[in-house]
Amino acid sequence: MGISAHGGTLVNAFDPAYDTASVQEEIELDAFALSDLELIGIGAFSPLTGFLNRADYESVVHSMRLAGGEAWSIPITLPVGKEKAASLSVGTKAKLVNEGQVYGVIKISDVYAPDKEVEAKQVYRTEDIEHPGVAKLHERAPFYVGGEIVLTRRVERERFAPYYLDPAETRAAFAEKGWKTVVGFQTRNPVHRAHEYIQKTALETVDGLFLNPLVGETKAGDIPAEVRMESYEILLERYYPENRVFLSVFPAAMRYAGPREAIFHALVRKNYGCTHFIVGRDHAGVGDYYGTYDAQKIFSEFTEEELGIKPLFFEHSFYCNACGNMASKKTCPHEDSEHVVLSGTKVRAMLKENIHPPKEFSRKEVVEVLIKGMSEQENTLHA
Ligand code: ADX
Repeated sequence: MGISAHGGTLVNAFDPAYDTASVQEEIELDAFALSDLELIGIGAFSPLTGFLNRADYESVVHSMRLAGGEAWSIPITLPVGKEKAASLSVGTKAKLVNEGQVYGVIKISDVYAPDKEVEAKQVYRTEDIEHPGVAKLHERAPFYVGGEIVLTRRVERERFAPYYLDPAETRAAFAEKGWKTVVGFQTRNPVHRAHEYIQKTALETVDGLFLNPLVGETKAGDIPAEVRMESYEILLERYYPENRVFLSVFPAAMRYAGPREAIFHALVRKNYGCTHFIVGRDHAGVGDYYGTYDAQKIFSEFTEEELGIKPLFFEHSFYCNACGNMASKKTCPHEDSEHVVLSGTKVRAMLKENIHPPKEFSRKEVVEVLIKGMSEQENTLHA
């Protein structure tokens, strides 16, 4: 049975037999909207059954709740250009198309012009266009189309296909394993020692770990998903008990919305069947837009019942040379100089230069996979 989906029912809007041929109008999806369409269709975004209409959008932007009251922190929108917006009529349908392929249909219930400055300020807590989420928000088309969707076709994946599981499938897998409590872990990075430490600390008290790396669109500079996937595989094989971890991907775009995205990430993992969700330091953050623990503090703006998934908060973790183990300020009395702390930017620069970050920071097997993967990517880029 497992934990209830957000809103009570796991949405299933996938219907490959749906008649798309009789729908005349077309809306072109960007990569973001395509991944959102699929995630709505498979129920990962339950209770959403479509792209937000204005009432839900305004409510999410201003109060982190849908118009009906359910907690929801990130607006899931379908942007279109001015001319397209003028040509669409409420009450009609449009095919949802990406690169000539139809992926679904929307029953248009609203076409509206959002105030993106307000959206940026509310959702990203900044209007700075240097923020990758805000930049993306402005880069996307200026009008939004709201309405229920039908997903008619799945995105084809060449690599790592077995790791693309729908919420109904991960729920079934957890049930089959007999896991009553499952902790979800979001990441857009390779799993370094600090990640491993907080995962395993959580794993001491729950039945299973759902390692659920985000593999949708990320900003330039983040380590590509293909490279990361291999690093997860080798890490799990070498350092995790096989029957306590389940690896499957989250094909969503990264918003870099910090606190708001932490809430969103938790709710979505509930839909995948998790009972608990890890929120560490600067979850889904970028640069220094958010305070280190803002993504934890925001949970106090919701009741436990509203969220229905329990956040597990972790302090900034590191390897302490004096302790000789992983720790955080909660468990380690030593000076900062004893702590092995490297920024993501620094680590990526090291990997590019073929310099191995220390084993206290990242497992040797992980580093090897990353260095190999990054150099292959470089070669492909420059071929
Ligand atoms: S995220 O953008 O996907 O959140 P990342 O992959 O770095 O970024 O983090 C995954 C999870 O691990 C987040 O919950 C984050 O807060 C947590 N985390 C990352 N590094 C640390 C650390 N050194 N100490 C504690 N938590 C961490």
